[in-house]
Amino acid sequence: MMNIAVAQSGGPTCAINASLVGVFKESLKEASIDAIFGSVNGIEGIIQNHMINLKSMILTNDDMELLKQTPSTVLGSCRYKLPDWQEDEEVYRKITDTLKQRNIGAFFYIGGNDSMDTVNKLSEYFKNTGLDIKVIGIPKTIDNDLCITDHTPGFGSAAKYVATTMKEITRDSIVYSIPSVTIVEVMGRHAGWLTASTAVLHAMGETAPHLIYVPEVKFSLDNFLRDVRQELSKHKAVIVAVSEGIEVPDGVQSGLVDNFGHKYLSGIGKYLEDVVRNEIGCKVRSIELNVMQRCSSHLGSRTDIEESESIGAAGVRCALNGQTGRVMVFRRISDMPYTVSIDSADAGKIANQEKFLPKKFINSAGNNITDQALEYFLPLIQGELNLVMEHGIPKHFAIHESVLK
Ligand code: F6P
Repeated sequence: MMNIAVAQSGGPTCAINASLVGVFKESLKEASIDAIFGSVNGIEGIIQNHMINLKSMILTNDDMELLKQTPSTVLGSCRYKLPDWQEDEEVYRKITDTLKQRNIGAFFYIGGNDSMDTVNKLSEYFKNTGLDIKVIGIPKTIDNDLCITDHTPGFGSAAKYVATTMKEITRDSIVYSIPSVTIVEVMGRHAGWLTASTAVLHAMGETAPHLIYVPEVKFSLDNFLRDVRQELSKHKAVIVAVSEGIEVPDGVQSGLVDNFGHKYLSGIGKYLEDVVRNEIGCKVRSIELNVMQRCSSHLGSRTDIEESESIGAAGVRCALNGQTGRVMVFRRISDMPYTVSIDSADAGKIANQEKFLPKKFINSAGNNITDQALEYFLPLIQGELNLVMEHGIPKHFAIHESVLK
């Protein structure tokens, strides 16, 4: 008999808890697995030996269903970068002590490309020190920027929310007779996947977003103003989707960075709003979707949530098959009908890497998204969740704050 550990890391999504349920449920089925520990605040919980016995928290099928409709990370998260073990072994010793003390034979880390760096380093360390502890990565990120996998858990739900919100903003912005520009800032760091996914509205005959700017295309303020003027000559209300990660002058963003050296991005929408006001002079508004786009589980994609659970479960099978240092990935078999299979890939090929929008998804002017991209995006946002409500509001599963402290 062995125990297992699971942790959640990086920026929240609507689907990370579904992957936790996948790991949990699959482990319950397995006679060789006894306790299932949840590490509080990602790898930090293992370093500090702060673990929760999940079987005493998640008691019923209803709990698991609630967890699947609960956004963010029920166990908390972190942005912790492990040093190279050849340079600083101290933290690896602490991790090993916790895992050995709790008889953990497999560790599942649900996270993005930075967290896969932890999967890679830890699995290498255990191999080199002869410890038989399997380390498996379960992907997640609204940024959709992980290599090898067709897409990442959490992306479909974020895309569904962003596109729906954009559609609603479009209805709102059209009401007055005066011309207007509405700029919507979308997350995604250096990759434009989430911003580009707003183009799904074109599949339902919407002309908005009229302009879409992604970090994969070098941003030019002159071209932006030319594009906006051109669209204003055709449409009364111009809707612009802009990625938080496009290059802007120093000072627009705070300049703060996280442990992986990533800048905290925010403020491009406001900056462009001021530019339009000063240079064009029409009614202009900017909307930063901010964290709503990664925690709005009331608009979650059923496809995304179900896939996230499945990929968590597949991670457990992968470890039980004796594999380590692997990240679970989706391989798309077809767009229509939409089919994917789940496979695994070397964590070293995914850690710290970014996958960008392919050129064929971006129009030749570099200010919108091609119809070819819609075949990729549309299947990921299909299906709705049958939400459990409480007092008219979606019910969430929570672990008491005192347990997580
Ligand atoms: O990890 C994905 C992400 O949501 C990015 O889209 C965003 O730039 C970043 O996280 C924000 O980081 P934080 O959660 O630390 O504010």
